[in-house]
Amino acid sequence: MKKSTNIYYTCALLLSLVVSVNCKDKKDKEMKEETPKENISKVSITESNYGTTQDGKKVTQFFMKNEGGIEVDIITYGGRITSLRTPDKDGNMQNVVLGFDNLAQYEKDNPYFGALIGRYGNRIAKGKFSMGEEVYTLAQNNGENSLHGGIKGFDKQVWEAKTEVGENSASLILTYLSKDMEEGFPGNLSTTVTYTLNDDNSLDVLYEATTDKATVVNLTQHAYFNLSGDFSRTILDHVVEIDADTFLPVDGGLIPTGELRPVEGTPFDFREPKLVGQDISEDNEQLQLGGGYDHCWVLNGQQEGFRKVASAYHPATGRYLEVSTDEPGIQFYTGNFLDGTLPAPNNSTYAKRSGFCLETQHYPDSPNQEEFPSVVLNPGETYTTKTTFTLMTK
Ligand code: GLA
Repeated sequence: MKKSTNIYYTCALLLSLVVSVNCKDKKDKEMKEETPKENISKVSITESNYGTTQDGKKVTQFFMKNEGGIEVDIITYGGRITSLRTPDKDGNMQNVVLGFDNLAQYEKDNPYFGALIGRYGNRIAKGKFSMGEEVYTLAQNNGENSLHGGIKGFDKQVWEAKTEVGENSASLILTYLSKDMEEGFPGNLSTTVTYTLNDDNSLDVLYEATTDKATVVNLTQHAYFNLSGDFSRTILDHVVEIDADTFLPVDGGLIPTGELRPVEGTPFDFREPKLVGQDISEDNEQLQLGGGYDHCWVLNGQQEGFRKVASAYHPATGRYLEVSTDEPGIQFYTGNFLDGTLPAPNNSTYAKRSGFCLETQHYPDSPNQEEFPSVVLNPGETYTTKTTFTLMTK
């Protein structure tokens, strides 16, 4: 009887040892799985202090990097991309977006370098629009028109930031609450813009917004690219393709006339890849009005939603940029107003056409043009739109 009890106890002890060893194995495994994703992610994100605005707000800079060699710097002031370093075809890393090296310069007057644009990217005629019975008056900060959200648009606000890291991506989540009637726009607009750098060398920009009163929204990103990485060169040697059969001709104030004009047989035909400099100096009324390209193209495939819409290629360095979006339009702006007054790296300045923008968006002046796709956001709805910039070489 005693013997069998002993055997019983020995068996129980052995069993519990086996179980506890198994449990330990399981725990070790779980611990491994619980290791913070930062340590195993192919994309990293770190932050540093970028200074303080004139009105005393702290600005942070975030630095994202993936294994494919893309490095992005973004500051919370205006959600601006201050640098985007990419390899050329021989692996040489260079920054390919125009920017400055300090906060004070970003706070001075500048043409939206690298910035998030809101509440309304592009122009609203005469700074006025109406919704229902109400007429809303905005700042006329571009001749008689309102441009890029007004005097203190989203490009000049300090955004709240948090980060998220996944296995193949890292995200910077920026939020900003634009108060009812800020810059003349109705409704408290709660805005989130998420920049995600992915392992496949794409940078997603996801825009989301909700409102408590009917309003208009058109958010975009205003990075100026020069894929040569040499900002003393113009972008006329880039090869651009835009998937659009029509574009929006403008008046003298760069407000669309309402016409959708076929690009066929005009300098605006980028359906096949074409050198930016090829037709830009042609004797063409629309080019004269824009001082070059500064127009909204009506993108094909709108019913498809998110799709590739444009690309830019710099043959000498092999750098190639692809732009995908679910937006109906893209403003292709060839930096015509850059005039050599703003400081560039190496004691130089940004000259005319030293950068181009591909601003995905709804059409300019949509609040006043009923035929254009609507930009109205109602309470209970969520504004969601995504644009992806993918950087490659070929
Ligand atoms: C936009 C406009 C241009 C110009 C720039 C900023 O892209 O379309 O006309 O105002 O912003 O200078």
